[in-house]
Amino acid sequence: MEIQTSNARPAELDVHALAVAVFKDEQADEGFLKDLDAATGGLVRAVLEAEELKGKEGETAYLHLAAAGGGAKARRLLLVGVGERADYGAAQVSQFGGAAVRYLRARNVKTVGLVPRLEVGDAGRAAQATVEGALIGLFEPDKYRTIDKEERAVERVVVVAEGADAEALRRGAERGRIVGESVNFTRDLANEPGGYLTPTVFAERAQEIANEFGLEIDVLDQPRLEAEGMGAFLSVARGSEQPPKMMVLKYMPEGRAAIEEGEEYLALVGKGITFDTGGISIKPSENMELMKYDMTGGATVLGVMRAVAQLKPPIPLLGVVPATENMPSGRATKPGDVVRAMSGKTIEIINTDAEGRLILADAVSYAKKLGATRIVDMATLTGAVSIALGDVNTGIMGTDQELINEIIEAGRAVGEKFWQLPLDKEYTKQIKSDIADIKNVGGRKAGTITAAAFIKEFADGTSWAHLDIAGTAWGDEAKPFRAKGPTGVAVRTLLNFVERSARKAGGDGEGR
Ligand code: BES
Ligand code: MN
Ligand code: ZN
Repeated sequence: MEIQTSNARPAELDVHALAVAVFKDEQADEGFLKDLDAATGGLVRAVLEAEELKGKEGETAYLHLAAAGGGAKARRLLLVGVGERADYGAAQVSQFGGAAVRYLRARNVKTVGLVPRLEVGDAGRAAQATVEGALIGLFEPDKYRTIDKEERAVERVVVVAEGADAEALRRGAERGRIVGESVNFTRDLANEPGGYLTPTVFAERAQEIANEFGLEIDVLDQPRLEAEGMGAFLSVARGSEQPPKMMVLKYMPEGRAAIEEGEEYLALVGKGITFDTGGISIKPSENMELMKYDMTGGATVLGVMRAVAQLKPPIPLLGVVPATENMPSGRATKPGDVVRAMSGKTIEIINTDAEGRLILADAVSYAKKLGATRIVDMATLTGAVSIALGDVNTGIMGTDQELINEIIEAGRAVGEKFWQLPLDKEYTKQIKSDIADIKNVGGRKAGTITAAAFIKEFADGTSWAHLDIAGTAWGDEAKPFRAKGPTGVAVRTLLNFVERSARKAGGDGEGR
């Protein structure tokens, strides 16, 4: 799909359909809508006066312009309600872009002018959010369909902000393209069946982005994992025929070779369970097919690295993704077994279905070994987080309140919600083992927190935050702006967070 920008009058735009954001209770008697009304022969005013559309979020009115006259070049006009003007930020702009292109694609429209109407705000930011939303909106998880596949395609979108700085618009749209494509990259991986996306194929996908966008990459295979002493990670992989892999990706700002003494080194660590059967503590069959998405944390890390390699912020970034299946077999780890993690801590495995924390324990230790001073891990870690927060908020916990605050703030800026759960040291008592240093489950109470308390034992002193995306990484139903299935949650937040960190480090990371 071609992505263009324009600072012309929307009515002048040579596209099949124009999609225009309309605020709550807005009338066509002044400003932009008045001009649009004139260009559509009074249609906009008529629709608003008749209250066919009141500007509530998600409302749409689709108008045929051909017979109306008035001078607009477009043949169709889609009015999209975007809610209160005062609440209109990057998240709403993105949803406007997504809802508009999904609606228009369904009507076989090939060329679209998107008018997000952030005249007051920063045009570059508006263009970025619009393009992100459009790309995310057009993603369909139907690559394995041969019938009823979405064959229609929007061929060209033009983001229009009348009178805006052309260069700011163009750069914003380009950033939006990078970010939107990277979110969809993560969603595509999350969607892949476990039978196709094995740890080996997952690592090949990492290798591909490293080659394409210029990232340093190292993939640790079984012998090297053994040599590193990653007994926690390997205990999960034991039951599988598929060899485990640990992907390590490095981004360095241009012209730099190594981490400097005393420099902050941010690491993203993502759970990469390519299929979670539960192992010997096997899961019930119902909904088990969804456990193909248990590598979404890892896919999120790859998505962020893929974007960072193109956006080129002035700070280094490390990505670590431990990948394995969690399978039952004659060789699988048994409840009651004791394993030794890379850090030296011993772990009593009570439940083999609490495998994510085991692989993250060694991945976090490895990130520290490589010099990470700030670690953010992300994982579809617990069913309990959906009970607590549903699919609205991602659970966040950690040892560094400033880091947690920054991530929450970054989320707010891009429209992704995080809710902090407490991580008092009392919770750690729940994971004391009778025979080893710790055990891998903490009982029924506070399941999301005790899972984090487990990882904390390995983050051990480093600045660390943990994102439990089990509830937010998968959308059970389609939204006007997004297909059902993988959401790509946290990719945009983390990219915004990386930019903030770059600004704080005194670099020139661009705002949004
Ligand atoms: N991958 C699951 C968590 C999960 C469950 C994600 C449901 C999405 C939906 C994780 O490995 C797991 O099985 N967690 C267990 C932990 C328990 C055994 C302490 C859980 O949440 O039930
Ligand atoms: Mn599990
Ligand atoms: Zn799991």
